[in-house]
Amino acid sequence: MNILIMGPAGAGKGTMSDLILKEYDIPHISTGDMLRENVRNNTDLGKEAKSYMDAGKLVPDAVINAMVEARLQEADCQKGYLLDGFPRTLVQAEKFAEISQKIGKPVECVLALDVDFNLLKERITGRRVCSKCGAIYHIHNHPSKVEGVCDVCGGALKQRSDDTVEKLTQRMDEYDNSTKPVIDFYDQKGVVAHIDASQKPEDVFNDIKEALGKIG
Ligand code: AP5
Repeated sequence: MNILIMGPAGAGKGTMSDLILKEYDIPHISTGDMLRENVRNNTDLGKEAKSYMDAGKLVPDAVINAMVEARLQEADCQKGYLLDGFPRTLVQAEKFAEISQKIGKPVECVLALDVDFNLLKERITGRRVCSKCGAIYHIHNHPSKVEGVCDVCGGALKQRSDDTVEKLTQRMDEYDNSTKPVIDFYDQKGVVAHIDASQKPEDVFNDIKEALGKIG
């Protein structure tokens, strides 16, 4: 299956991707996770990306396109892909059309997660992420059994540096200006499934399964 999962910050892309992976055997490729790993490892790419991410701005297209192109050439993508957070601009979407054609894996379904801004604010400020395995929690909606400790691996739970109300507003502006047109671009191709992601996680996932059932 060749799937994109899109939506604003806090819509639940990472949360739903974890559930999709348990059901479908495809690699999860999150550009946000790849960038954060580069920042942690202090690579040249990470050094370049950090200032943009800290400001809630999009990292330049050329950096992202090169990173995704290399990742999609890896052997596990022969099974397909679940791309999370890419493409986020029309320039990225055009590049992606080229890459996906080259590897013979055109996108089959775009899962567009729709959520109201006020709900996003609550989700983003309450999110905690495991510093070791990346598992996602929420202080109210999905707390860990022991506060500050990951249920899966025992790692320390942290708040992401861009998870503030101020940075969320900036990220939403980027989303409205640059990423919504990408969803319109795929809507015109008839491959978008709009999902009401303000529902409970299990209901959101049921709607996703229904949408994916139509392609595979
Ligand atoms: P990225 O990491 O992709 O962040 P994002 O798009 O802002 O999305 P998030 O990871 O914040 O949210 P999510 O939708 O995954 O929500 P989650 O499942 O965690 O990108 C970060 C930065 O990297 C960007 O700002 C940019 O600088 C850069 N970048 C990345 N890709 C790029 C690209 N292609 N081009 C340029 N720059 C790029 O859920 C959030 C919280 O809500 C959690 O606590 C969760 O438990 C809770 N929750 C989830 N679903 C539900 C539900 N249904 N009900 C109740 N609670 C829920």
